[in-house]
Amino acid sequence: MSSFASSISKVFYGTFIHSVSIKEIEYVPNGLLFVDAHGRIAKIVRNVPKDQFRGALDGVEEYKHAPQFAYCGNGHDIPLLEWLDTLTFPHEAKFKDASYARRVYTKAVARSLRNGTTSACWFATIHLDATKELVKVIEEQGQRAYVGKVNMNQNSPDFLKETTQSSVADTRAFIEYVNAINDAQGFDTKPLVTPIITPRFAISCTSDLLTELGKLAAEFDIPVQSHLCENLKEIEFTKSLFPNSTDYTSVYADHGLLTHRSIMAHCVHMKDEELQLMKDKGAGVSHCASSNFNIKSGLANVRKMVDMDLKVGLGTDVAGGFSSSILDAFRTARTCSIARSPADSLLVPELFYLATVGGARVMELEDTIGNFVVGKEFDAILVNTAAKYSPLDVFEHDTICTKFEKYLFVGDDRNNEKVYVQGKEVRLPDV
Ligand code: GUN
Repeated sequence: MSSFASSISKVFYGTFIHSVSIKEIEYVPNGLLFVDAHGRIAKIVRNVPKDQFRGALDGVEEYKHAPQFAYCGNGHDIPLLEWLDTLTFPHEAKFKDASYARRVYTKAVARSLRNGTTSACWFATIHLDATKELVKVIEEQGQRAYVGKVNMNQNSPDFLKETTQSSVADTRAFIEYVNAINDAQGFDTKPLVTPIITPRFAISCTSDLLTELGKLAAEFDIPVQSHLCENLKEIEFTKSLFPNSTDYTSVYADHGLLTHRSIMAHCVHMKDEELQLMKDKGAGVSHCASSNFNIKSGLANVRKMVDMDLKVGLGTDVAGGFSSSILDAFRTARTCSIARSPADSLLVPELFYLATVGGARVMELEDTIGNFVVGKEFDAILVNTAAKYSPLDVFEHDTICTKFEKYLFVGDDRNNEKVYVQGKEVRLPDV
């Protein structure tokens, strides 16, 4: 056996569809894709005869709140700050109980994987034990994920408020917990689970706490996620709490929390200087159009972000958003863009890029995942357009391109026959 053959652990045959640039989707019919023992793409051979459509699509990134999955679909008539007080905070208090957390997280992660999300950024709650439980569930189910223990030490109800000291100590303990699991596994590829610093938003953290979290991000060289410029009242309140910062985005920058590893959800109401600051720092945006419609935050100007080559990925933001599906995020991002400005709205290849490569860039994983390139890890969805109960119909006139378009606009998790993370098929749980 040649050394190439002996290094290969899996070979896939079919139609491969991925984003090669913000302007271009590549269709690889009759392709052969070889994956090595580390789950990396070793070789792609195009146009190997034998026709069938059971294409593989590259996977995606999304951001969401794992605990909020329990009331996904509820409470959409309430704007952000009231929504947090009436729905979110009382519910999150229940995650003091790690066994309740396990039940909700098991469903939340399963639903996310079923929908084809190979990589996710998760917000947990302030609770250390429940956040560890989320890591265990993700490890069991095999998703690639950034997981954050949320920090909150002000402007939060007493039943969901930490002290600065306990918040920092528990965050450190959480990071060390994840790092120890990763060290024990002795990865020769990137570990699948990464801890992420997660101040809920500037309103819920004092300047002291933000400073300490910035130091932890630097000490462990780990990513940061938070919310930014989602809602007008939120922005006003933030400015009143941090009068020494030029604007909301600068609050994070001033505390060492805006870096090339930062992911800011929403960014709906950004001044040009704030977008420029994000770009200068190399930070990325998680565009959560569904949530921004549902809880009435507004329409983010993603065209402007894309044109200035700011990093942008798509987020589902359950439970602000009502769907765990990145396909829904794709569709709602398109509607948002058209509603803002039909003449220069985002086109399908651009949106597909945001759902795949864009997400990888935001997670600073563009050298690892995002599309099918030799050397990257094989994260993919096997799509079957003719699946039982498929919501889309295929006719003789359909081509690979029209079938793919139908999947993007009409398909759902029933079309996701298999999901692969780092070259391994994940067991798709029933949800
Ligand atoms: N801002 C602060 N917390 C939250 C949250 O849980 N969801 C959303 N959408 N925005 C937030």
